[in-house]
Amino acid sequence: MDFKTIRPILGNGKKLHIETYGCQMNSGDSEIVVSIMQKEGFFYTNKIEEADIILINTCSIRDNAEKRIWGRLKEFSKYKKLNRKLIVGVIGCMAKRLNEELIEKSKIVDIVVGPDSYRDLPDLVRSIRKGVKGVSVLLSQEETYADISPVRLDKSGVSAFIAIMRGCNNMCSYCVVPYTRGIERSRNPQTIINEAKDLFESGYKEVTLLGQNVNSYGWSEGEGDKIGFPDLLRQVAAISPQLRVRFSTSHPKDLSDEVLEIMVAMPNICRAIHLPAQSGSSRMLELMNRKYSREWYLDRMYSIRKHLPDCSITTDVIAGFCGETEEDHKETISLMNEVGYDFAYMYKYSERPNTKAQRTMIDDVPEEVKTARLTEIIDLQQKLSLESNKLDIGKCFEVLVEGVSKRSDTKLYGRTSQNKVLIFDRKDYKIGDYVMVNVTECSSATLKGESI
Ligand code: 5AD
Ligand code: SF4
Repeated sequence: MDFKTIRPILGNGKKLHIETYGCQMNSGDSEIVVSIMQKEGFFYTNKIEEADIILINTCSIRDNAEKRIWGRLKEFSKYKKLNRKLIVGVIGCMAKRLNEELIEKSKIVDIVVGPDSYRDLPDLVRSIRKGVKGVSVLLSQEETYADISPVRLDKSGVSAFIAIMRGCNNMCSYCVVPYTRGIERSRNPQTIINEAKDLFESGYKEVTLLGQNVNSYGWSEGEGDKIGFPDLLRQVAAISPQLRVRFSTSHPKDLSDEVLEIMVAMPNICRAIHLPAQSGSSRMLELMNRKYSREWYLDRMYSIRKHLPDCSITTDVIAGFCGETEEDHKETISLMNEVGYDFAYMYKYSERPNTKAQRTMIDDVPEEVKTARLTEIIDLQQKLSLESNKLDIGKCFEVLVEGVSKRSDTKLYGRTSQNKVLIFDRKDYKIGDYVMVNVTECSSATLKGESI
């Protein structure tokens, strides 16, 4: 054997730490990155201070998300002072958006790797050892990391995310995602089903199928039939009635009755749909390039209610998008009241460089008006969440136990099919058990109950 041709193991027991910001896709990506690096001999550590490589997986969705990362990078300089050989890498959406700027401005970043280039990480680390800082941020039309088994970083071993697609083709005018994550591509369904099966066989009880727009999932091989999201959902849910299946995110323009019918037929598909409305005003929706109107959205809502009366409905709302008038805002308020959302993520519009809104519209809603509208939206949602939770009092739900309550170790917490957190007495139940719990009290954020 020619020993000269054998490459030394890159990691050789060195330790890698990842800090993850942003959406669930990013959490999934961090698990892929750990898998890639473990194959090269790196060990994952939860302790940042003992790491030889720190990677920060970043989000660009709003300006404040990026500001937070810059702040965090400043803090990393103390680790660099302690360990001069420490490698700091920025990965994810901000890496794609800013590339070399991160190295130049931060003074401490060594590598910058975009969402489609994680396979390049080992080579970039090799280059650093030769003194060359590295950037790899090209987007791909094919990369899905389908062959890589993510290393699960959430140690509870109950619930896992499975990315079924990457990128986004929707081009909402406010959104940076198509620029940071590239065009939409779906992953081979067999690899998804195998991953879900493996998770179930190793004790997981819940999987969440992830994508920027899961309803537009599509795969066809050769001349074969096209597999769409409904087929995929059915096949994953068929693995076992004991495996809960969730999916996120749905785009209102693509949520079909076929998906709802499959949910009706398969009770292990969770009764929870996240359907971001963004605004209740058709005029705003048009400017946002959402490709649906208020009426279309409400039609989808009624269809969900008709098919699945016990389904929770949650949303995302943006306050103060370009040109939003008081009337448009009132329409968002009225939509929220009409739907009676169980939960919402609510944001002030934040202009993002190079998006259609930034290029062609004026960010003209004054900051204080944005704040006032967002406050009104948050206050209303607080009230709606409380009303929704109050309706659960006296009802019994199957809860999948996720952990011991942070406030008391005599209590457990888990989620209902509707994705609401329910807290109850620990007794002899274990993490990963399904427990029937009667709801006895609630706040706007959680339910409390007694197991039966
Ligand atoms: N400003 C504010 N919120 C935004 N979102 C996406 N882009 C922006 C932006 N530029 C919100 C949307 C989306 C969620 C993930 O983030 O509500 O659904
Ligand atoms: Fe996720 Fe979008 Fe943030 Fe990227 S910009 S991390 S896709 S939320």
